[in-house]
Amino acid sequence: MPELLERATAAVRGSDLAQRRGRVSDLIGLILEVSGLTAEIGELCLVGEDSGRARRAPIPCEVVGFRAGRTLLMPLGELSGIGPGTPVTPTGSPFRVSVGPALLGRVLDGLGRPLDGIPAPAGRRRASTDAAPPDALTRPRICDRVGLGVRALDTLVPCGVGQRLGIFAGSGVGKSSLMGMIARSTTADVNVIALVGERGREVREFIERDLGPALANSVVIVATSDQPALVRIRAAFTATTIAEFFRDEGHHVMLMMDSVTRFAMAQRELGLAIGEPPATRGYTPSVFALLPRLLERAGTAPTGAITGLYTVLVDGDDMNEPIADAVRSILDGHIVLSRDLAHAGHYPAIDVLASVSRLVSEILDPSLRAAGDRLRAALAAYRDKQDLISIGAYVRGTDPLTDAAVALSSQINGFLRQSVDEPSDLDEADAQLCALAAELAGGGPQG
Ligand SMILES: Nc1ncnc2c1ncn2[C@@H]1O[C@H](COP(=O)(O)OP(=O)(O)O)[C@@H](O)[C@H]1O
Ligand SMILES: [Mg+2]
Repeated sequence: MPELLERATAAVRGSDLAQRRGRVSDLIGLILEVSGLTAEIGELCLVGEDSGRARRAPIPCEVVGFRAGRTLLMPLGELSGIGPGTPVTPTGSPFRVSVGPALLGRVLDGLGRPLDGIPAPAGRRRASTDAAPPDALTRPRICDRVGLGVRALDTLVPCGVGQRLGIFAGSGVGKSSLMGMIARSTTADVNVIALVGERGREVREFIERDLGPALANSVVIVATSDQPALVRIRAAFTATTIAEFFRDEGHHVMLMMDSVTRFAMAQRELGLAIGEPPATRGYTPSVFALLPRLLERAGTAPTGAITGLYTVLVDGDDMNEPIADAVRSILDGHIVLSRDLAHAGHYPAIDVLASVSRLVSEILDPSLRAAGDRLRAALAAYRDKQDLISIGAYVRGTDPLTDAAVALSSQINGFLRQSVDEPSDLDEADAQLCALAAELAGGGPQG
């Protein structure tokens, strides 16, 4: 009986969907204009004949707007085989992605389909990619530190379980290497890594060179730069949805997204295509509305937590670019990678003095914080007198802190530098920082 009822309901729903059908009337740039279609914003529709006679499979498209009585759709695949009058059928639901524990170790495309040639595991739950973030008042406060396996970060820019940090960097200064290091040594249970808008070559390089064995407890979601804008946008939400699945199972998830800038650019492409006015630097208002909807979904929750690391591309190291500004205001801190350090061979190229974790006082005990402050002060003093020091014109005895920083500069650099395959854990990093701070307080080896 229930089966009969189910079949009847499906038939009614099917005929209802058939009644809501429309037909393609225009295609302008990336936007399909459809007349006669009754569909909601965000609803997934199929463009093209889905009968057995069709030469191609129908193309999934999403409703992105309405104009003058017509429905605007954007494709989630290559637009081909479409002409005036091609039928468009609504599906009655938004885009959904399959989630399940079997996703670990897999590489997926922006829509959650396997990219690694292995068939998708069966019997998985499907989840809408447009979930709401947990209620602000049910979110536990952040108090535990997560080990990232990178000394300079763990001690000087510490990240809490459920904290969200931006990684601000230009191209080629070590974002992918840093993400790989973190994925391999973090104390989080699961990594979910979204690569949005990268070139195809970089993806393979990241998975094989940077991620390596950590793929086994990671899920990688990839939408390269040649993918339709909507797929690049969906990739970010797909990754977040998969991270939420593991969080709801009680795990601590490390969500890394490279890059939020390319996600914002994809949304700008969409916004401009449907006729939104460009605001700052061509970015449309919807970009700035969408960013918090994406970034707020990471964080703590009543069960499990998602720690989020989001890379932001800063052109010519311009930290005040609109996306950098918007992201910085939403997140709980930022890590700055500097091109000067990278050029000097100082890796990871973390500019400690420009990086901030807003939760230091919640997750570090006072003695560690004091040690970190001492090291920062020494770095600042050294940087202040750097020109003099480099030409040998600095006179010892001018300033005790600078003296100590000069005397200990090789130890300080040894602490801050770390090769990609050098392991480090929290206790070890803390002990090294405290030892260094004690030496700085003592004025250096000769002091
Ligand atoms: N920790 C490190 N140790 C040594 N070299 C590094 C390190 N991190 C990055 N590099 C160097 O920087 C180059 C670019 O790094 P990559 O992570 O691909 O940059 P991005 O992803 O920002 O474009 C690498 O090929 C490598 O030579
Ligand atoms: Mg990279």
